[in-house]
Amino acid sequence: MLIFRIFRKMSLFSLSFLLCFSLICEPCVQAWSKEGHTMTCKIAQDLLKPEAAHAVKMLLPDDVNGDLSALCVWPDQVRHWYKYRWTSSLHFIDTPDKACSFNYQRDCHDSHGVKDMCVVGAIQNFTNQLSHYRHGTSDRRHNMTEALLFLAHFMGDIHQPMHVGFTSDEGGNTIDLRWFRHKSNLHHVWDREIILTAAADYFGKDINRLQEQIQGNFTHGIWSDDVASWRDCADIFSCVKKYAAESINIACKWGYKDVESGETLSDEYFNSRYSIVMKRIAQGGVRLAMILNRVFGDHQMDSITAT
Ligand SMILES: *[C@@H]1O[C@H](CO)[C@@H](O)[C@H](O)[C@H]1NC(C)=O
Ligand SMILES: *[C@@H]1O[C@H](CO)[C@@H](O)[C@H](O)[C@H]1NC(C)=O
Ligand SMILES: *[C@@H]1O[C@H](CO)[C@@H](O)[C@H](O)[C@H]1NC(C)=O
Ligand SMILES: [Zn+2]
Repeated sequence: MLIFRIFRKMSLFSLSFLLCFSLICEPCVQAWSKEGHTMTCKIAQDLLKPEAAHAVKMLLPDDVNGDLSALCVWPDQVRHWYKYRWTSSLHFIDTPDKACSFNYQRDCHDSHGVKDMCVVGAIQNFTNQLSHYRHGTSDRRHNMTEALLFLAHFMGDIHQPMHVGFTSDEGGNTIDLRWFRHKSNLHHVWDREIILTAAADYFGKDINRLQEQIQGNFTHGIWSDDVASWRDCADIFSCVKKYAAESINIACKWGYKDVESGETLSDEYFNSRYSIVMKRIAQGGVRLAMILNRVFGDHQMDSITAT
């Protein structure tokens, strides 16, 4: 009986978490891992200005105590639910094999060719929806809480280089290989393996310490001179297209490079890719904060047109 009482007190959100942990989850393909998304969202939330921090707190359900990162993986958990099936193509972009470029007109569509249904279109869409929140002009058809969670999640996905990958191998998902001694695939290496290996080798498996070092590296470390340029953005839509182009470039130069299906990736691959993964997590967080500060802040959202 007690268990039912507890369940009744929990929101849909926490229930969806429980479900994800208790079911065997195939949807774990095609996403920055839980750790990657959590770090991106924590970094972003720490960079919010007061108005944006307040709006985010207002939009989050009570049971997460104002912690955005607790729900940043929610879109991965619901993508196979019937109600949210329309979101499944929004996590990534398939580009033509070996083209190593991103072209919005050519590449941003779902598998049926429906335009705008890719991660760039989604970020534009949810940014646009949220931009009406501050003026109280939000369309009642749109759920602002969901828009925030989708935006936060997709800003993580777009910075995972293999989320903008080749069509035939599904962003590396069909490239089976070994990561050190266990079976994995190239997509998963970038989603999770590199992060977990780093956490285990350098941080005693403590993801919080890893995240703090990433933050230290852009506040006063190796990336401190670069942060302004990461954040720099005159027009959100152009910037988001640029983030996708950065990802496919990294995917070609570092992700797919010299990788053959069936082989074993280990120290050499890890050592040369580690800092790239960390930088993408940092950039995702800094840029998510930039967008949220604009959407909820005082200055005009010139770049976003009203719908
Ligand atoms: C934008 O969001 C609405 C729901 O809020 C959805 O119906 C539409 O398909 C989305 N489009 C994109 C490109 O994300
Ligand atoms: C918005 O979406 C969340 C998560 O799906 C849900 O719990 C909440 O009830 C929705 N709010 C409204 C006003 O529909
Ligand atoms: C932070 O920067 C140092 C170099 O100053 C580097 O050795 C370390 O790997 C970086 N850590 C992360 C998590 O990026
Ligand atoms: Zn995702």
